[in-house]
Amino acid sequence: MNIPRQIKSNIYSVGAIDWDRRLFDELIPLPDGTSYNSYLIKGTEKTALIDTVDPTKQHELIENLKELRIDKIDYIVTNHAEQDHSGALPKILSIYKNARVVTNKKCKDMLINLLLIPENKFITVNDRETISLGDKTLEFIYAPWVHWPETMLTYLKEDKILFSCDLFGSHFATSDLFVTDEAKLYEAAKRYYAEIMMPFRKTIKKNLEKIKDLDIEIIATSHGSIYDKPEFILDAYEDWISDEVKNEVIIPYVSMHGSTKKMVVFLVNALVEKGITVKPFNLTVTDIGELAISLVDAATIVIASPTVLVGPHPSVIYATYLANALRPKTKFVSIIGSYGWGGKMVKQLSDMISNLKVEIIEPVVIKGFPKEDDFRALGRLADEILKKHKENNII
Ligand code: FEO
Repeated sequence: MNIPRQIKSNIYSVGAIDWDRRLFDELIPLPDGTSYNSYLIKGTEKTALIDTVDPTKQHELIENLKELRIDKIDYIVTNHAEQDHSGALPKILSIYKNARVVTNKKCKDMLINLLLIPENKFITVNDRETISLGDKTLEFIYAPWVHWPETMLTYLKEDKILFSCDLFGSHFATSDLFVTDEAKLYEAAKRYYAEIMMPFRKTIKKNLEKIKDLDIEIIATSHGSIYDKPEFILDAYEDWISDEVKNEVIIPYVSMHGSTKKMVVFLVNALVEKGITVKPFNLTVTDIGELAISLVDAATIVIASPTVLVGPHPSVIYATYLANALRPKTKFVSIIGSYGWGGKMVKQLSDMISNLKVEIIEPVVIKGFPKEDDFRALGRLADEILKKHKENNII
C-alpha cells in the first residue's frame, strides 16, 4: 500500500513503505520493515519535495506524485545524501527537468560523487537560510553528524513542521501516518537510535540545542511514523543521550561446552539477588539489534567467552567490535570465561574497547569447568559491580 496522504493543507506524505526489508546496510536487522518518507509541499508560488526514497522504491514515489497531479517541482530539498533518501534523485530529476536540488555544500559534493548529479542542478543553502514557496517558508538548519557529516534539518515555519530526515527516525513499516502505538514505536525508535545515532550522542546534544527554541507541532522523519506529539520522541532522546545509566548489567556470551554458560548463570543469579537488572544475550541466537537497544542504558557490560585458538570466540569478537563502534555510555566492563590450556582472551577483548570510556572490573577467567573457588570469584565480581553502581549513584 503506497498512497499519497495529506498531513496538513497542501502538505503530503508521498514516500514508500518497505514492508519486506529485513536488513539495512547489510548489517542492521529490520524486524518491522521500514519506510522511506518523502514529503511534498505545495506553496502558492513554488512546490518542494523533501527528500526522495530508496531507488528500489522510486516507482512508488513517482506514482504518488502522479496521483497528486504534480507536473512541476521547483525544489528537491535533500537533507541527507545517503541513498535510501537520495537514491531516487536522478530519476526524479529526469522527470521534473526544471527541479533544482536544494542542499548544503557538503551534501552537494557527496551527491555529485555518489549519484553523478550535474553541478548546475544544485542550489546551495547556508545554515538558517530560508527559501520561500509563496505562502510557506522553508528554513534549513545544519545538523552535522546525525549521522553523516552533511546532515541537515528543514523547518516549515508556517506549519511548524520539522523535517528531520534520519534524526528521530524508526525502521517501522506501518500504514498509519502518525504514531498510534506509542509503546511499539518507542521500541523501534530506540532500536534505530541504538544502531544509527548512538555513536553521535554528543553531537545530537548540540543539535538539539539548536532546535530547542523552534515551535514544533509535528516532526516528520524520513523513516517510520510521523510524530504529531513531538515531545514523545524529544523526551525519549533527552533520556537516551543523557549521561545517566541504569542499574543494568548486560552479558553477551557464547559457551561451547557449558563452562562459560555455567559461569553466566551463576553471575546472573548473583546480580539479580543484589537487585540489579540483568540481560544475558546468547550470541548464537541473539538479534544484534536487541543487544544494541540494551547498550543504550546499561551501566555495565560483562563479556563472557570461551577460548578459541587462544582468543575469544569469533561471535564474541563481533559483538565486542559492534559495542565499541556504537560507543554506548556504559561505565564498567568486565570479562568472564573459560579456557582449556591458556590464551590471550582478556588482552584481546580489552584492546578492542578503546572507544568506551569505561573502568575495567577485574575479569574472572578460569581453567575448564567452574569450581568452588571460581564461583567465589564470580560472587566477588557481583559484589564489585554492586559497589560500583552504588558509588556512582546508579542504584
Ligand atoms: Fe536513512 Fe542515513 O539514511
